[in-house]
Amino acid sequence: IKGNYEHFMQKEIHEQLEFLTTTARGRLIRGGTCKAKTVLLGGLKDHLKTIRRSRRIVFIGCGTSYNSALAARPILEEISGIPVTMEIASDLLIRQGPIYREDTAVFVSQSGETADTLHALEYALQNGALCVGITNTVGSAIARNTHCGVHIKADAEAWRAPTQIVVMAMLALAIGGDAISNQARRDALVDCLSDLPNKVREVLELDREMEDLAKLLIAKQSLPIEGMLAGEMKHRPLALVDDSLPVVAITIYDACFRGDAAAVSCGGVCRVIEVPQVEDCLQPVVNIVCLQPYHYAVLTIFPF
Ligand code: UD1
Repeated sequence: IKGNYEHFMQKEIHEQLEFLTTTARGRLIRGGTCKAKTVLLGGLKDHLKTIRRSRRIVFIGCGTSYNSALAARPILEEISGIPVTMEIASDLLIRQGPIYREDTAVFVSQSGETADTLHALEYALQNGALCVGITNTVGSAIARNTHCGVHIKADAEAWRAPTQIVVMAMLALAIGGDAISNQARRDALVDCLSDLPNKVREVLELDREMEDLAKLLIAKQSLPIEGMLAGEMKHRPLALVDDSLPVVAITIYDACFRGDAAAVSCGGVCRVIEVPQVEDCLQPVVNIVCLQPYHYAVLTIFPF
């Protein structure tokens, strides 16, 4: 099953290149007679008018799917001009949070069968929202019960976040339509989406650096992982940082950039892994690949 790779996980990580291509195949329109670059999501085309008229887009998911939507929110808001909010499916249900007829509710689930997300879908349907699915699984409950949606075309665990973010960036472009005001951004994004597999290949070539990083981290007694926005760091978490706490800082050359390059600091030792720069909203796809813990997993199982 693992082919020419040492482990199955390593194979999955390397296969991302292929599945980033598959997910975008036939959906990126570059050039042609009108020379406009755009995306075509066949599953959404009859519903785009309704989505563009909605008062709010609500993303609903659990775990990784929720985090992918969080990463894609800035580009959705920028291109669509529609407010985008986020809901963890179980929390929405417990609160019986407000969902309206004027909302577009987007359900993200790789399997298309995540129980909390499915219950939230029933709830949103009862409340009259337009329900859109983003799932990998043709014929799944979410694919069947949503009004429309997009199939991701990639299954394995390692590909979830990168391919979900790619689909959501394409969703933003589809909602944005052919507005002249977005044309330059749209061109840059379509070009970036088609070149993304090459950039991910460049990250995979940083294997030695990723292994060094894993060796640095494995020396720690434990490694609980808590992601947080940089702006939140100074509101309490900073008080927990001492010499022994590994801190992984991800910095992007975006409008908020003010410091040095991406850095990992651990017990006074600082490592920097510089990854290829892509369009800001797609940078998480590249960064995620760099942080996939293959070497860490190997060292955990086979300590050196
Ligand atoms: C579809 C075909 C693809 C074909 C292409 C040719 C399927 C599954 N896909 O892809 O094989 O190459 O046309 O133009 O036959 N949907 C939902 N909810 C979801 C996900 C999808 O309702 O969560 C619906 C969509 O609205 C659409 C259908 O399922 O009606 C297929 O979606 P998708 O595979 O994304 O559409 P295409 O990319 O056009």
